[in-house]
Amino acid sequence: MKHIRNFCIIAHIDHGKSTLADRLLDFTNTVTEREKQDQLLDSMDLERERGITIKSHAIQMEYTYEGQEYILNLIDTPGHVDFSYEVSRSIAACEGALLIVDAAQSIQAQTISNLYLALENDLEIIPVLNKVDLPSANPEEVTDDIVDLLGCDPEEVIHASGKTGFGVDNILAAVIERIPAPKGSPDEPLQALIFDSVYNPFRGVETYFRVINGAIKKGQEIKFVATGKKYYADEVGTLKLNQVVKKEIKTGDVGYLITGIKDAREVKVGDTITDAKNPTKNAIEGFEDVKPMVFAGIYPVDTEDYEELRNSMEKLQLNDASLVFTPESSAALGFGFRCGFLGMLHMEIIQERLEREFNMTVITTVPNVSYHAFTKKNPDEIIIVNNPSDLPDPSGLDRVEEPYIKATIITKADFVGNVMSLCIEKRGQITNQTYLTTERVELSFDMPLAEIVFDFYDRLKTVSKGYASFDYSPIGMRASKLVRVDILLNAQPVDALSALIHFDNAYNIGKKMCEKLKELIPRQQFDIPIQAAIGAKIISRETIKALRKDVTAKCYGGDISRKRKLLEKQKKGKKRMRQVGNVEIPQQAFMAVLKLN
Ligand code: GTP
Repeated sequence: MKHIRNFCIIAHIDHGKSTLADRLLDFTNTVTEREKQDQLLDSMDLERERGITIKSHAIQMEYTYEGQEYILNLIDTPGHVDFSYEVSRSIAACEGALLIVDAAQSIQAQTISNLYLALENDLEIIPVLNKVDLPSANPEEVTDDIVDLLGCDPEEVIHASGKTGFGVDNILAAVIERIPAPKGSPDEPLQALIFDSVYNPFRGVETYFRVINGAIKKGQEIKFVATGKKYYADEVGTLKLNQVVKKEIKTGDVGYLITGIKDAREVKVGDTITDAKNPTKNAIEGFEDVKPMVFAGIYPVDTEDYEELRNSMEKLQLNDASLVFTPESSAALGFGFRCGFLGMLHMEIIQERLEREFNMTVITTVPNVSYHAFTKKNPDEIIIVNNPSDLPDPSGLDRVEEPYIKATIITKADFVGNVMSLCIEKRGQITNQTYLTTERVELSFDMPLAEIVFDFYDRLKTVSKGYASFDYSPIGMRASKLVRVDILLNAQPVDALSALIHFDNAYNIGKKMCEKLKELIPRQQFDIPIQAAIGAKIISRETIKALRKDVTAKCYGGDISRKRKLLEKQKKGKKRMRQVGNVEIPQQAFMAVLKLN
């Protein structure tokens, strides 16, 4: 135990976390030449394509330092706000963290939010100034920023480059010298923290844990405290590039466990593993059931595929416990599911996985957050509204509450004005403004989560010319003046296009929605009126003019290969269309409200 170090790497996105992790593995010979590939820790295909760490993993290194052999467990943390609870549990499994800061970019929003998480868990922080090889690196200035942030000495900041490998030896030395060994007691009943799990179709769920007290042995009967379920530890081991089977994992160490569990929902990140016969009295603090933040309807393009979609979703849920869904029906789209996601990225991932792994073609409706509605009749009873069409009739409505977040934005002084205007447009209230340096400003806002779901991130990038970083955390529900804006096509309301919008913006957004839909819905053989309405009141109207008969004639003649391409494109496009009444609506139209600017 004295010679174990458990640590993680925290950084803003793209500051070089994965690259540096690879160098640590190289330097400790954890990976043989043959096994080498870029970005080793990112093993999911999707992850590699997106270049971000979606699912956290752990890897064990052995390293001899001053004649003594050490075990270094590097616990990877996901890099996206959607997965912040997993980040917090990974951090809780460590005694120390490498805080990586890009020598050209300096401190960004995620650097700070992750640092706070690490400090809350009493982690020893080792600051690393990364990418010092870059010509645009600003080592002195950025070191000053780090010193200001942490209150450390400039000498404590390790200069490194994940690209060249410079400084990696110093990082490993600091991990051993500065990060405390795990405490814990081998004699106490087993207490292990689950910080992640991965679904394996052949072996069932693999649970990743950190032993706090006691040990976990092969064959032992164990219990998961939060779920109350008991299992046998069929296999335990440590994680190198591959799994290494062991007889037991001792106090302070990190490992994996296989119990034959086939449903990811039984393994909850943050839960405590204990001995079934001699259980611990205390669960490890900080367990939470993760709650979905964003909801959307998922419908089969072909109504006949409903059962197949259900099957696919059930299978997907077996390996992604944070996906929740309930059947719903829409007057416009028929039978489908209302799904809850951790965030927009998670939603995209699910949609993509449905298509890639299950060959499903689906329509996703406008995402929304989860609202609380209260009626005049029963003003104390919360009605959870995960779908705008479930909002009770406005006449009987007492109030509606929506989730709020605290947003942290770091930007250059030049862009403070732009960022503020954007946040105010998005109904944000500024709560704090701090100059980190003369150039760089940290702004805090209280904002409705719904406004972040809607195109906020892209807008922020635009108004700051890319010089803004952003992070957020939920701060609870607040009452808001929200109304439901409905969309009618051909005088028929299309429930799947309804959205809850703040009263002050409702007219404007209704108008823009009509304009956008006019652009997105293809012309057909007849005029299609598009209307936006609040209750019975029409607030805006556009018309999609009927196709003139001779339009298709123009397509004849011309380059044949070009035409074939066009045809194929149309065929593909067609798959993501949905017939509503006698109007064909393409997938993009369901997302129109997100793309109004
Ligand atoms: P996420 O996993 O997406 O959070 O990103 P990350 O922090 O792991 O960053 P990653 O390691 O993917 O590196 C981001 C980019 O910076 C890549 O294009 C790397 O090649 C580059 N990079 C990483 N480290 C260095 C470095 O030390 N020097 C230089 N010049 N480039 C680097």
